[in-house]
Amino acid sequence: MGASDKSQSMSNNTKRLRGAVIGYGFISGKGHIPAYLQRASEQDDVEIVAIADICEARRARVQETLPNARIYSDYRALLDRESANLDFVDISTPPCDHATIAHAAFDKGLHVLCEKPLTTSLLEARALLEHAARAKRVLFPCHNYKHAPVVKAIQEIISSGKIGKVRSITLSTYRNTHAKGVNEWKTHWRREKKFSGGGIAMDHGSHTFYLTFDWMNSYPTAVTAKMTNLEPTKYDTEDNFSAVLTFPNGLAHAHLTWTAGVRKVIYTVQGERGAITVDDDDMQIAVMQKTDGPDVAQGAITWNVEKRSIASHWMDASHVSWFNSLFDQFKTAIKSGDFIGKEAREAYLCIQLISTAYRSAQEGSRELPLEIEVPVKAHP
Ligand SMILES: NC(=O)c1ccc[n+]([C@@H]2O[C@H](COP(=O)([O-])OP(=O)(O)OC[C@H]3O[C@@H](n4cnc5c(N)ncnc54)[C@H](O)[C@@H]3O)[C@@H](O)[C@H]2O)c1
Repeated sequence: MGASDKSQSMSNNTKRLRGAVIGYGFISGKGHIPAYLQRASEQDDVEIVAIADICEARRARVQETLPNARIYSDYRALLDRESANLDFVDISTPPCDHATIAHAAFDKGLHVLCEKPLTTSLLEARALLEHAARAKRVLFPCHNYKHAPVVKAIQEIISSGKIGKVRSITLSTYRNTHAKGVNEWKTHWRREKKFSGGGIAMDHGSHTFYLTFDWMNSYPTAVTAKMTNLEPTKYDTEDNFSAVLTFPNGLAHAHLTWTAGVRKVIYTVQGERGAITVDDDDMQIAVMQKTDGPDVAQGAITWNVEKRSIASHWMDASHVSWFNSLFDQFKTAIKSGDFIGKEAREAYLCIQLISTAYRSAQEGSRELPLEIEVPVKAHP
């Protein structure tokens, strides 16, 4: 089946998407595949028919979750043999291979769901968006933090206007160790630049940055950053990273650390009339009650404070419970032919931010400008 025949058959039969997963490690084994299986049992609109992994010990474990999947040691062999009957690939390998695998999938006429970071360089990200637009196939990054229930609640409160226009935000992500891969492969690949492309900013920065875009409802125009590596004799990537992003309407402070001794997120969103504070599942919304009358000292203002707890399962690093809602978006993008939509464009902007922040940190935290337009047309 050629690429155009395939899109024809997709539009005739949008019921079940057939996918292959490349990389059977932590995120696919604990996150994506359990979520696909649950979705298949409830909605029957997705099926994973093949898996590729370069690690023999990981391939041996595929049967535990997907006994009927065909298993390959090389994604190219999988694509050659399977792509005629596939709709999409799910790329769950370390970042160094995301771009090459995605290009190969587009060449076979497949849609691509790709783990973050989309790529390890801006040139690669741009080429991937261009290829998706040319191939008329969807490129969709796994920006799954948008799907955390407490993050959805933040977005709803901002959109309701309750705290007024957002002016300043802080996003702190604390981890007690660098994120690790499965034991059977290179567990510490995130600390080796040749696999990861960078440290915690490359690994987690996308999550932080795409949330800033939504909460500020704009894109940043400049960044200044600082970072450190507390174990330079062992690893060549940073484990602590701080950045300040300038937006047309305010500032965002991002702080990421792998050496915090604790695992948690703390987000604050400050608007003209109130503020949201999130500490994992716990949310506080403070809204100013008296905004008129003569100026008063801050302590004299009355605040209406609401507290909520929104179960978001932060401690489960697979974030399996957020995947279904993300997959809904991917499916919608396929149906509507939104090949390089908002999420893909924001993935590009995240890579721009990460790479520019690295340059800023290397140049004594010099503030550097950012382009807010993605230089790729949706229809070439
Ligand atoms: N969105 C999230 O919340 C989240 C969470 C964890 C990981 N991730 C992302 O998922 C990706 C994988 O991370 P992980 O923690 O699952 O890593 P991992 O080390 O646990 O798994 C990677 C797997 O890919 C296999 N692999 C490596 N190169 C390959 C190749 N060229 N072809 C086929 N298989 C290959 C390895 O053998 C391993 O089984 C990364 O991009 C990471 O950033 C995202």
